Amino acid sequence: MLHPKIRALTEKIRDKELRKKVVELLENPVFEVGGKAYSGLPLNIAPAGLSHHHCYPGGYIEHIISATNLALALCNSVEKVYHGKVNRDLIVAGMLLHDIFKPVTYTVNENGSYGTTGLADYMDHLSIIISELVRRSFPLELIHVVSAHHGEYGPIRPHTIEALICHLADLMDSRLNGEVLNAAAYLIRKAVGEELPGLTSKEAFEIIHSKAAEGWDGVAKTVEKIKKKRAARKT
Ligand SMILES: [Fe+2]
Ligand SMILES: [Fe+2]
Repeated sequence: MLHPKIRALTEKIRDKELRKKVVELLENPVFEVGGKAYSGLPLNIAPAGLSHHHCYPGGYIEHIISATNLALALCNSVEKVYHGKVNRDLIVAGMLLHDIFKPVTYTVNENGSYGTTGLADYMDHLSIIISELVRRSFPLELIHVVSAHHGEYGPIRPHTIEALICHLADLMDSRLNGEVLNAAAYLIRKAVGEELPGLTSKEAFEIIHSKAAEGWDGVAKTVEKIKKKRAARKT
């Protein structure tokens, strides 16, 4: 089942044929090679990173929604402030698909932590999505947007405004999330001298808010609150 917020974003794609192709891939993100089909953690519960950002259940969906929103905000700036032109279909489709094969490379270890699948030893999420976009005859402009989303660290730098916007939005969202998780982990260590593994963005923002509102005591109280909530969820 496609997440309702992801479905709503697909409806922003005006080109019917492109929208159909995007939805088909989103609904069935399976990668086949040598007659073997690879499917990973379901998109709705997968993380979008193993350690630096969005590394908790649901992180993948949060990243896609947030990065797409940021990309659309950049489109507004380009169009309304700089009087430039942007193809929003490429932006939305690019953001929705850019990391779709990350979950195929992730697995859950016995202790609940995330690890990588056998496929990940041979291919990374970017190579997988590019080969799949080519195989499914997606437009070249969209293939470029997705290939360039890692910017200077990827196989090609952004050469179109749509590719640049998607790269920046992706980077911005990963940094925003990663910095907040790091800051919260630091505050927790300083306040109570221990770690809270698997911190979600919601918990991290609560910790940061509690420090601003009530100082170190606030952080300690919030850590206790989070632990109780987690324990209640397990029972
Ligand atoms: Fe990526
Ligand atoms: Fe991403």
